[in-house]
Amino acid sequence: MTPGIPRPAFYIFKCQQSAPPGMPKPSCVRQDDPESQQLFQHLAQSLMQKGIIATVQPVQTGCLGRCQQGPVMLVEPGHVMYVGLTKEKIDRIIDEHIIGGNVVEEYRIPDEMWAEPVPPSEVAR
Ligand code: FES
Repeated sequence: MTPGIPRPAFYIFKCQQSAPPGMPKPSCVRQDDPESQQLFQHLAQSLMQKGIIATVQPVQTGCLGRCQQGPVMLVEPGHVMYVGLTKEKIDRIIDEHIIGGNVVEEYRIPDEMWAEPVPPSEVAR
């Protein structure tokens, strides 16, 4: 039996939504905040430098629906949403959660903003 190509251990979905200037709604990438524009690149570079990019796949996404808490990213598996991101926070999440296996609770979205999901089978028509 030939070994297959391993699937990723994690996907990290980083919201890259950017609101146009003057738009009152907050967004994860902001024109007036250079660090917010560099976070995805920082994430990808850090995964590369640590040698884990093959098994941890960073994905750029649109809005993940928690704009007030931005910048945000979602780690799967686990449905772990991290909020208020900075480069330093991303580094700690990689070291402690992705490599170390322990969710960084203090950067996680508050429970009231991320309650239990509604099973589709309960609401499907
Ligand atoms: S803009 Fe990032 S969650 Fe909505």
